[in-house]
Amino acid sequence: MRPVTKAVFPVAGMGTRFLPATKSVPKEIMTLVDRPLIQYAIEEAREAGIEEFIFVTSRGKSALEDYFDESPTLEASLKEKGKDELLELLQATNMPSGQIAYIRQHQARGLGHAVWCARRLIGPDESFAVMLPDDVIAAETSCLKQMVDAHAKTGGCMVAAMEVPREKASAYGILDVSEDMGSLVQARGMVEKPKVGEAPSNLAVIGRYILTPDVLHNLEKTEEGSGGEIQLTDAIAQEITEGRNVFGYRFQGERFDCGSKAGFLQATVAFALERPELREELSLFLHERLSMDQAAQ
Ligand code: G1P
Repeated sequence: MRPVTKAVFPVAGMGTRFLPATKSVPKEIMTLVDRPLIQYAIEEAREAGIEEFIFVTSRGKSALEDYFDESPTLEASLKEKGKDELLELLQATNMPSGQIAYIRQHQARGLGHAVWCARRLIGPDESFAVMLPDDVIAAETSCLKQMVDAHAKTGGCMVAAMEVPREKASAYGILDVSEDMGSLVQARGMVEKPKVGEAPSNLAVIGRYILTPDVLHNLEKTEEGSGGEIQLTDAIAQEITEGRNVFGYRFQGERFDCGSKAGFLQATVAFALERPELREELSLFLHERLSMDQAAQ
């Protein structure tokens, strides 16, 4: 099987949950501690062996495109001042020419449609990854790397999976499991944002996928589904209908939903506490703040 070397990043969303910040700043550029959201996804992808990065963007995302450019003036100034560590950090964000592509999604028609927009950049026999940068996953071995390794043995389509509380199932794509093998599950169905009480399980799809090009063909014909949008989940479920394998992969790691304000703040605190230079001051502040809060109640 060919290794997975391409990843599609759907980043066309308007980020309305973070207005007014996202009026002029793409959501993916919002920072967790000192790195934009997208940087976490890029690093995860690199660790998994991804060499080509395909961004599906929209109007207003130019700051995202600029972020991956070289910054010669800034680099020269850091070099001159001998700030080698910062220089290294900065250079790690550059994307070599030819490794990065931008495709425009002209209409907001859903995640499935966004992925379909990248179809011409994926070869006919080439499995590819999809990464939703809103889902930030802290893990010893990157989530996508865990999946790429598992996928090398299974083939087919694979989605990252995680148990969620039953009452939250309607916010996710949910797997209908036919065989549970521990970290790997075989799916006999998938449903996007099921109505409360109708979810086939509480095993949710998290924003990491390894897909066969068949899914892109399915997307040609996928009709509008949940929320009136073309859903990636429906195109993957079509694979099962056609008798091909779809697996869920229970990854090792902690997932933060950075598409929500609470999740974004949790990730910020968790990642800051991991930083030796911030840990002490921040945890002292948090302790004091929480005890003040409790005393006031
Ligand atoms: C998307 C997918 C959904 C998945 C979720 C994970 O939904 O459509 O299947 O469970 O990401 O974060 P969104 O959160 O963009 O509505």
